[in-house]
Amino acid sequence: MAEVKLKNIIKKFGNVEIIKNLTLEINDGEFLVLVGGSGCGKSTTLRLIAGLETCNSGDIIIGNKRVNDLPPKDRDIAMVFQNYALYPHMTVYDNIAFGLKLRKVNPSIIKKKVNEAAEMLSLKEYLHRKPKELSGGQRQRVALGRAIVRDAQVFLMDEPLSNLDAKLRTQTRTEIKKLHQKLKTTTVYVTHDQIEAMTMGDRIAVMKDGIIQQLATPKEAYDYPSNLFVAGFIGSPSMNFLKVNLTEISNNEITVKSDGFQLKLPYNQNITNISSYKEKELILGIRPEYIFLANNDEQKNLLQAWIEVIEPSGSRTYLHLSIGKKHQIVAEIDTSLIGNLKSGTDISLSVDVNRLHLIDPISEKVILSTQRFLDK
Ligand SMILES: Nc1ncnc2c1ncn2[C@@H]1O[C@H](COP(=O)(O)OP(=O)(O)O)[C@@H](O)[C@H]1O
Ligand SMILES: [Mg+2]
Repeated sequence: MAEVKLKNIIKKFGNVEIIKNLTLEINDGEFLVLVGGSGCGKSTTLRLIAGLETCNSGDIIIGNKRVNDLPPKDRDIAMVFQNYALYPHMTVYDNIAFGLKLRKVNPSIIKKKVNEAAEMLSLKEYLHRKPKELSGGQRQRVALGRAIVRDAQVFLMDEPLSNLDAKLRTQTRTEIKKLHQKLKTTTVYVTHDQIEAMTMGDRIAVMKDGIIQQLATPKEAYDYPSNLFVAGFIGSPSMNFLKVNLTEISNNEITVKSDGFQLKLPYNQNITNISSYKEKELILGIRPEYIFLANNDEQKNLLQAWIEVIEPSGSRTYLHLSIGKKHQIVAEIDTSLIGNLKSGTDISLSVDVNRLHLIDPISEKVILSTQRFLDK
């Protein structure tokens, strides 16, 4: 096991800078998820760690060693890819054993290791099969087996679940997490799927355009997104964004207004001071799960909305709503509370004002997450 440090990494393809001065420290034994949209530089970052690409500048350190000039085979890493990269003509056993044979490991040790890995991955009864006789999930487990037997210091995984159907993906996700809890091998896991990132990562690094936007635990990124991109990227359905004006600031409350509603948010200028934004336009962020059907006796902080579409989804129901003339939002409501709501009708909603975010529309930074005042 080892820590992995990337320091001021710049990577260009031709004249285009793909990785822009990236610094990232992954702790020994940590499961770090690099997450972001397609083309943001996730695979390139992983390939730089693996030694499959060379950077233009910066340091890559594995353990205490600068590995920039080491070939992949000397970096003590094992990599798992989306397409499994198994040898089709070899059995499961030989696929798992291949790297060890190449390294001329003693055959009795190879046998022991392959059997241990097969046991761990529930592959014992498939060892004699060829990859084409396996399901996608089993193939990916073989690819994991090949990584496990290597006793590498670091696992690098590039979208290993992308080729699996939804059910297998969640199953294999849990298996990889269990495996990590057992082996505690430092892992860098790449995915475009924020749910995968949230459920698997000890920490997640949210990436956009070759820049890490936020490095945090999943909970921190969810409760305290650093900017508009992270706020919109983490969470499903996505956070709602509404343009508002910050009209009033008092000791313990701020008021935001927009077409069709007014909300009073908790505030404490000793904890976070946003008085310079008075009378300015801001973006208000509300997660769909913090919007509720209002009780009859509630009067404050109401949103009057028009139901466009009702989407039942098991225990939760998504309401697609319009507010005033300008705003479209989604609310996620407990299905047991939906009753006989109908599309094409009006509805009163309340929001949890302790879970709102205010975002500077120019810098796109989150200037206030009201949960801050609860957590103090
Ligand atoms: N070998 C290459 N030559 C030129 N451009 C590349 C090469 N590899 C990747 N890129 C470009 O670098 C960017 C990041 O790619 P990649 O790291 O694969 O993104 P991700 O894995 O996040 O989807 C993309 O714009 C991609 O087209
Ligand atoms: Mg990729």
